[in-house]
Amino acid sequence: MSSKKNLEDLGISSTILAKLKEAGYKTLESIAVANVSELASVAGIPLPTAHRIVSKARELLGLTLKTALDLKKEKGALPKITTGSKRLDGLLGGGVEIGTVTEFFGEYGTGKTQLCLQLSVNVQLPRDRGGLEAKAVFVDSEGTFRWERIEAMAKAVGLDPEKTMTNIYWVRAISSDHQMAIIEEIMDLIPKENIGLIVVDSVTGHFRAEYPGRENLAVRQQKLNRHLHQLSRVADIYEVAVVVTNQVMARPDVFYGDPTQAVGGHVLAHAPGVRVQLRKSRGNRRIARVVDAPHLPEGEAIFAITEEGIKDVEE
Ligand code: GTP
Ligand code: MG
Repeated sequence: MSSKKNLEDLGISSTILAKLKEAGYKTLESIAVANVSELASVAGIPLPTAHRIVSKARELLGLTLKTALDLKKEKGALPKITTGSKRLDGLLGGGVEIGTVTEFFGEYGTGKTQLCLQLSVNVQLPRDRGGLEAKAVFVDSEGTFRWERIEAMAKAVGLDPEKTMTNIYWVRAISSDHQMAIIEEIMDLIPKENIGLIVVDSVTGHFRAEYPGRENLAVRQQKLNRHLHQLSRVADIYEVAVVVTNQVMARPDVFYGDPTQAVGGHVLAHAPGVRVQLRKSRGNRRIARVVDAPHLPEGEAIFAITEEGIKDVEE
């Protein structure tokens, strides 16, 4: 395939461009297939910049053909973020994936927010303990973020509480438009601040409130889809984990099938990503189930919400 695009379309400074050419990267193709850290070192540029350039080159080329081995190398080696529960991690194939949108959905009190808080802490852990040594952005549309919980969870995993709180950027989203604008705005921050996780809790709240009822369903869905694609693009391009929550209500009027359904249908059902249904069990126990994920094994995992955060259930 020939492409009319060239290095100038990368939108980078002429200094960096010159460095790249000098280092032998003379075509978009050569950059698109480059090893990011190699490119960073030979061109003498920071890793996040190199990452952005390689991603942009791939994007410009619309590289869609990959071998299975490429996929294995790219995706198979991607680190995951631990949830704090080994069983839940197991259900998710090792933890919350980066490069993907993971949705936690369930009724009120099923632990969606607690999981988001826990992941914001755990993303900061060293890699050998299930973290990315990276920071988190918490987009809070409901005002349920609690720094006290972050403090307690940080202590429980042996991280410095103040440092852990410094590494979580919190922003309140006041409307669906604002929520979408925030995502556009934080894109610059992701490589600069070494962001590894973006949380949107909840992703659907404002959309439901602003477009209520059946008559608004189509436009609400359309807008929400735009938001979700924006989120999955960010996850993919920057290789960060995106975790969203979606409150669904039990519908007593549903007599068969799954009684827990998003009012107005499964709003996120057609967006790419991993969907995890949460439901309550006895006491502080919760049950997670992955839905529609052909690459993950079927089954359920039980976990507990404790004073110290998300944990395995002690038998
Ligand atoms: P909605 O946002 O209302 O849809 O609910 P949610 O799914 O986000 O629920 P959330 O994550 O807020 O979970 C609430 C549950 O976590 C509560 O029912 C408590 O059992 C538990 N929880 C919340 N805070 C604490 C805490 O500080 N200590 C302990 N031990 N449990 C907590
Ligand atoms: Mg919540």
